[in-house]
Amino acid sequence: MFNPEITLKEHDEARQGEALVLENDKNVSNSRKLYIESYGCQMNFADSEIVASIMMEMGFTTTGHYKEADVIFINTCSIRENAEQRVRNRLKEFSAAKTRKPDLIIGVLGCMAERLKAKFLEEEKLVDIVVGPDAYRDLPNLIGSVDDGNKAVNVLLSREETYADISPVRLTSNGISAFVSIMRGCDNMCSFCVVPFTRGRERSRDPHSIVKEVTELSENGYKEVTLLGQNVDSYKWTSEDGSEFVNFAGLLERVALVNPDIRVRFSTSHPKDITDEVLYTIAKHENICNYIHLPVQSGNSRILELMNRTYTREWYIDRLDAIRRIIPDCAVSTDIISGFCTETEEEHQDTLSLMDYASFSYAYMFTYSERPGTPAAKKLKDDVPDEVKGRRLNEIIAKQQQSSRAELEQQLGKVQKVLVEGFSKKSDKDLCGRNDYNAMVIFPVVEGIKPGDYVNVLVERCTSATLIGRIV
Ligand code: SAH
Ligand code: SF4
Ligand code: F3S
Repeated sequence: MFNPEITLKEHDEARQGEALVLENDKNVSNSRKLYIESYGCQMNFADSEIVASIMMEMGFTTTGHYKEADVIFINTCSIRENAEQRVRNRLKEFSAAKTRKPDLIIGVLGCMAERLKAKFLEEEKLVDIVVGPDAYRDLPNLIGSVDDGNKAVNVLLSREETYADISPVRLTSNGISAFVSIMRGCDNMCSFCVVPFTRGRERSRDPHSIVKEVTELSENGYKEVTLLGQNVDSYKWTSEDGSEFVNFAGLLERVALVNPDIRVRFSTSHPKDITDEVLYTIAKHENICNYIHLPVQSGNSRILELMNRTYTREWYIDRLDAIRRIIPDCAVSTDIISGFCTETEEEHQDTLSLMDYASFSYAYMFTYSERPGTPAAKKLKDDVPDEVKGRRLNEIIAKQQQSSRAELEQQLGKVQKVLVEGFSKKSDKDLCGRNDYNAMVIFPVVEGIKPGDYVNVLVERCTSATLIGRIV
């Protein structure tokens, strides 16, 4: 789940605790106000936009300040223990608001709601609503029930729900990039992972509704879409009469053809499922970015087997080679877990040597965090001491810093197409945007150039995570 903003230290989720608000809603005073804060992966952020859409149908407006809100929703993540801890700490902060305003409704959404279910209401007394990722259509009932003085829970998972017909309210969007959910759930059973339990079975969204959403984004001036799924390569959809079948390569192509001026990105790819057909599709369409997030988790085949990733080190290397062969100019990023159950020093070295081979442009790196109820928690011993996990993680981070740097240096002296996103964070004399490989590029403002424009930038320098250049 990429976010190049976050650099090479252990972190949990791509973005954390960001409040979502619609600019034009700020001054509406006579409606009930919703404050929604999201944690975890991009899918959770995309879900919050579905939730906001459902709530706005009910007459709510959004606010960026929880102290003004009538309803506070916190869309949660369970992926690692500290992700859950962060949510609990945040709930403590909300409790003061509840004391001031007793009819304030507090709802917990997303993966932690699904994992803990009604137990949440016992553990956190201030919470009124617990709603899992497949139950957001029920929010009007749940709110109604709380208005009547009850607590409300719906954590039913679904085999069909894709929210295909609900137009997300683009809350955090800059008006240029948007996320589009193409599937939900996950049918892989990576032994360390809580997602299959919190998000349920995998299901793919109707491609026609995806193309329609991208077409509307294009008509509204958007220039970049990121297709989201836990394992996009296993996207598959068959029409009811069986006459139409679409796999991920087919979907990518349909989306790319909506408008050649719209960039297409996607996340996350799974090494066992990414096909040459997908790679050829990326190579064929200029507007599909040459950037693949391909989580490896470990460079050792025994550990990969214990993780139930269903590929080996050799298989992963074969996929890297296929990427390099079919799309010679393609950045690859990854996710790595250090100190998984029974990992030895030699096996850790295998991860480091695979990193040397791959030269990832970017990596999300974590120490293993045992999650209750997962196959690893049931069958394996979390026996690598914390300090060893931490030391291995530091070695992984140091290695990644070298290869991130090397990958950026490769780009010096080249002219790259950049989609302008806005002013740079540090100075309004500079603009910023991403190149095809998802690296952030900073360059001086040129009159007439505005967010949403494509510009050619000559890359002249780099820092550890950013390219610096000028428009040519
Ligand atoms: N669907 C994606 C990943 C989703 S979770 C995939 O299959 O790659 C994002 C990342 O969190 C994972 O790739 C993994 O590196 C990390 N992760 C998941 N469970 C974890 C756990 N129990 N401890 C530490 N890291 C974990
Ligand atoms: Fe978790 Fe594996 Fe599914 Fe990714 S593919 S969400 S790591 S079970
Ligand atoms: Fe977290 Fe759930 Fe996403 S556990 S990473 S929010 S699918």
